[in-house]
Amino acid sequence: MEKIKIGVVGGLGHIGLIQAACLAKLGYQTTAYDNNSFKMEIILRGKLPFYEPGLEELVKETLKSGFLTFTSRSEDLGESDLVFICVGTPSLPTGEADTSQVYAAVEEVARNRKKHGLAVIKSTVPVGTSRKLTAYLEEHKLSANITMVSNPEFLREGSGVEDFWQPSRIIVGASSEEAAKKVAGLYRPPGIKTIITSWENAELIKYAGNTFLAAKISFINEIAGMCETVNADIRIVSKGIGLDPRINPYFLEAGAGFSGPCLEKDLKALINQFQKTGRKAKLLETVLEVNEGQRSAMVQKLREQLGSLKGRRIAVLGMAFKAETDDVRDSHSLPIVKKLLSLEAELSIHDPWVKGLRQAGLSEDELPGAKWVHSPYEAVQGKDAALILTAWPEYRALDLLRVKDSMAYPLVVDGRNIFDPQDMRKLEINYVGVGI
Ligand code: UDX
Repeated sequence: MEKIKIGVVGGLGHIGLIQAACLAKLGYQTTAYDNNSFKMEIILRGKLPFYEPGLEELVKETLKSGFLTFTSRSEDLGESDLVFICVGTPSLPTGEADTSQVYAAVEEVARNRKKHGLAVIKSTVPVGTSRKLTAYLEEHKLSANITMVSNPEFLREGSGVEDFWQPSRIIVGASSEEAAKKVAGLYRPPGIKTIITSWENAELIKYAGNTFLAAKISFINEIAGMCETVNADIRIVSKGIGLDPRINPYFLEAGAGFSGPCLEKDLKALINQFQKTGRKAKLLETVLEVNEGQRSAMVQKLREQLGSLKGRRIAVLGMAFKAETDDVRDSHSLPIVKKLLSLEAELSIHDPWVKGLRQAGLSEDELPGAKWVHSPYEAVQGKDAALILTAWPEYRALDLLRVKDSMAYPLVVDGRNIFDPQDMRKLEINYVGVGI
């Protein structure tokens, strides 16, 4: 194989580490650069700073084979043929994506160049960023040794490694076909559907993809609201519409809404880009509004059953934004828990992988009085309600009779529709789902 050297900036982040380890596995000499020394120490001790199935083994294997190395010196990327930029683009208060880390990373890479190479943007950036970065590099006389390419990332947390090996598509935006082909040619197996296009198209495909997924979820959640008033069951309605290949069965699960570090952030960022171009993103704004309504609905469902929540003892099951990840960034659970605390409910919180405030990246005073417990059974003991917010397999497998017997009042409000209402009725559990 041609000796291609790869650099990854943000190489210890979720996307960066998956990208680096998988490219190293493909046999490319890969250097993951990150200035987070805390994360670096954890990894070099053989652990990961976050959970991602299959990644820990892959990192160990590629470190051992020598194809993956870590560095905290950006100079070490100077000889790389391609440098992937995998840094964060968090939301500013206006919803705008903050691209400062991307600009800093590209500038750093450009300043350290020892030969010509490609700076490949994996981070989700506003449409026009690759073009603006190219102009920025020219303006600062840094463009001689660098060519910008956009190669948006579509992997999902919890199946990121699998998504790398079997991507739905590869999108490469570039101003030269040669540069685009170099990036597209890296991935294996060959034959994955690939679109080589302009920077702007590539950048917008990422936003349009994620916001479309968000729209599907808000759509089904709106129909779920209808189901609740007409005695219909959203699970059957979803199945029924999902069988139409033009709709497909994915992202049609009703519940407490979408959350996590991507969908909401990207939705807000695209709405902001509409505003900047003098347009109103009517549909997208509603998608966001419906999603926020799903969170309030969780609290409302508890209130409908219990009346005032003051002094009510509630078990919150699930803090991660979805199952199979320990990520709580922008999780729907946080605003819901905060709201319940503001209504003076007494909370016991459980999550199989998020074990406390520190792991959730929260300070002591952010969830005052909430108690973290080690098992779902401990959480529901003596409670007036259990609120399910993450669809963990462990919760699906709960011994419901034991749950019922240990609760003060057998109320389960299920924001993920993981149980069958009929089973719950048989057990005489007061069960409230979303659209069922
Ligand atoms: C998403 C995109 O799917 C991925 O392509 C992109 O690269 C990053 O953002 P991720 O955030 O990992 O991935 O999670 P995803 O599986 O998309 O779920 C996002 C949220 O939507 C979760 O809170 C999930 O519980 C919720 N969801 C998903 C629903 O509420 N209903 C569904 O039917 C599907």
